[in-house]
Amino acid sequence: MVFGEGIKIVMNTSDEKVIVSLDNVSMHFNMSGEKLDSLKEYFIKLLKRQLFFKKYVALENISFKICRGDVFGIVGLNGSGKSTTLKIISGILKPTKGKVFVKGTIAPLIELGAGFDLELTARENIYLNGAVLGHSRKIMKEKFDDIVEFSEMQNFLDVPMKNYSSGMVARIAFSVATMVRPEILIVDEILAVGDFQFQEKCNKRIEEMMEGGTTIILVSHSIEQIEALCNKVMWLEKGKIRMIGGVDEVCSAYKNS
Ligand SMILES: Nc1ncnc2c1ncn2[C@@H]1O[C@H](COP(=O)(O)OP(=O)(O)OP(=O)(O)O)[C@@H](O)[C@H]1O
Ligand SMILES: [Mg+2]
Repeated sequence: MVFGEGIKIVMNTSDEKVIVSLDNVSMHFNMSGEKLDSLKEYFIKLLKRQLFFKKYVALENISFKICRGDVFGIVGLNGSGKSTTLKIISGILKPTKGKVFVKGTIAPLIELGAGFDLELTARENIYLNGAVLGHSRKIMKEKFDDIVEFSEMQNFLDVPMKNYSSGMVARIAFSVATMVRPEILIVDEILAVGDFQFQEKCNKRIEEMMEGGTTIILVSHSIEQIEALCNKVMWLEKGKIRMIGGVDEVCSAYKNS
């Protein structure tokens, strides 16, 4: 483990074990430097070439490896680049620079409601979300009852999901994503909207998946959750790796920062 500039990854791995690898990845976003009051004003400025964008560096030269079976935590303050990293791993965002290597099926739980059509009922969305994750209708039919049972949403199955609370959406999303075991499960914070009983249930399921060899990448503001579940942790600060290594070391440094 090395701090700050010129970070080097020192996880002892042979290459076959590596399931995710980011090599010098940077992500830049264009952000409008001014506050405009209307879309009309935006287009006028755009046509007059008076609109200036600031380059925003969300991630800068990030390199790390995750091995098969790791439960890899990512911690950091708001805006440090955690979700951006997960979106790059899932293929939702293409990095501005750098190489991404992923070997395995991914179930990403990143944005609440992504992979759902909230106008549809939960029943319909379970099939839709299953298809998004690459599962056949036949498999979804077989797993349907288990998914509903785990989510405990039996009484709300035929309600359009736009009427769901965020915790209820998270229940369905987590239940679908974990019912057919992916090789890599990515969880970004969405469990935090679930009540404590459901969070405990999710933690148990994550533990079962860990035992079954699933690789898990977990972003959480709950250091207790990271400490309870992860073996390795990366601490991001303003788009850079501040520290990466064993869970105890990184979490205690983060807590004392
Ligand atoms: N699509 C986008 N367009 C412009 N800027 C973006 C976009 N997505 C993220 N950013 C910016 O990149 C930075 C990192 O965002 P990111 O969502 O990765 O942070 P985070 O660590 O997940 O934060 P949080 O703890 O609040 O979830 C933020 O400053 C954010 O404003
Ligand atoms: Mg985030």
